[in-house]
This record gives sequence, C-alpha cells and structure tokens, in this order.
Amino acid sequence: MRFPSALALCAAISMAALPALAQNYNPLARPGAAPGLPGAPAKPAEEGNPDLGGLPDGKGAEETFYACAACHSTAIIKQQHISDGRWDDLWGWMITEQGMPEYPPEEKDLILNYLKTHFSSER
Ligand code: HEC
Repeated sequence: MRFPSALALCAAISMAALPALAQNYNPLARPGAAPGLPGAPAKPAEEGNPDLGGLPDGKGAEETFYACAACHSTAIIKQQHISDGRWDDLWGWMITEQGMPEYPPEEKDLILNYLKTHFSSER
C-alpha cells in the first residue's frame, strides 16, 4: 500500500495548500493599484498624499479633494485619463446631473487646472 498512501499524502497536502492559495488570491489586486488589498505593495511608488485620498500633491490638490471626495472615492478621479475638454464637460455634468454645488470662478479654475495637470490625456 505504499503507492496509495503516497497519493493520499499528496492529496492531503494539496487540499491543505489550496485554501491558502484561494485566500491570497485577489482578482482585483493590481500592483500599486489597490493599496490595502493583499498582493498590493504596502506603499506603491505612485501613491499620492494619503490625507487626500491618494491624490498627488500640487496646487489645488486639497480643494479638489474636498470638492470631489464629498460624493465619491478619489479612485474615480485617479483612473481618468481624459482630455481637458472632457474635464470641462465633466465639471458641468457633475453640477447639472449630480448635484455638485457651483464654485466661485477662481476655485473652479484652481480645481480644473489641477485635474487637467494630473489626470489629462493631453500631457
Ligand atoms: C454631488 C456629488 C458629486 C460631487 C461633489 C462630485 N461628483 Fe463626480 N460623480 C458623482 C456621481 C453620482 C457620479 C456617477 C457615479 C457612478 O455612476 O458610478 C460621478 C462620477 C464621476 C466621474 C466618472 C465619470 C464617468 O465618465 O463615468 C468622474 C471622473 C467624476 N465624477 C469626477 C468628479 C470630480 C473631479 C469632482 C470634483 C470636482 C466630482 N466628481 C464631484 C457625484 C459627484
């Protein structure tokens, strides 16, 4: 019975190993993309300011965080790679369709400049 018991041992090992694998497997984990999820590095190189939801520091970063993260995660902003014109459109859409308040022109410019500087497809 040497052969079957070796098989049984094999099966026992793989059954013990599989749940551990399944536990560590995370289909959403991309390196650097999902901090805090297993598989993501503790501090990804591209990570922005953790106090600002990971937005990169810069002129207007704080204003952008407070204006936009009121409703949704900064992830929705960070994943964008869109044209400057599309940012202008999105700004209007956020106001007319999503209920974002209007901002004074200086603050609107500050935030839109920040978005276009960091999340534009044009530079
Ligand atoms: C009053 C709430 C509110 C505020 C404030 C707000 N948003 Fe949104 N935003 C939404 C909602 C609701 C959606 C749609 C989410 C969905 O359906 O997944 C959205 C979606 C988006 C999207 C995805 C658009 C797409 O094409 O799918 C982007 C980008 C975005 N917001 C950026 C911003 C930025 C930048 C700011 C700050 C200037 C901001 N939002 C402020 C409510 C808001």
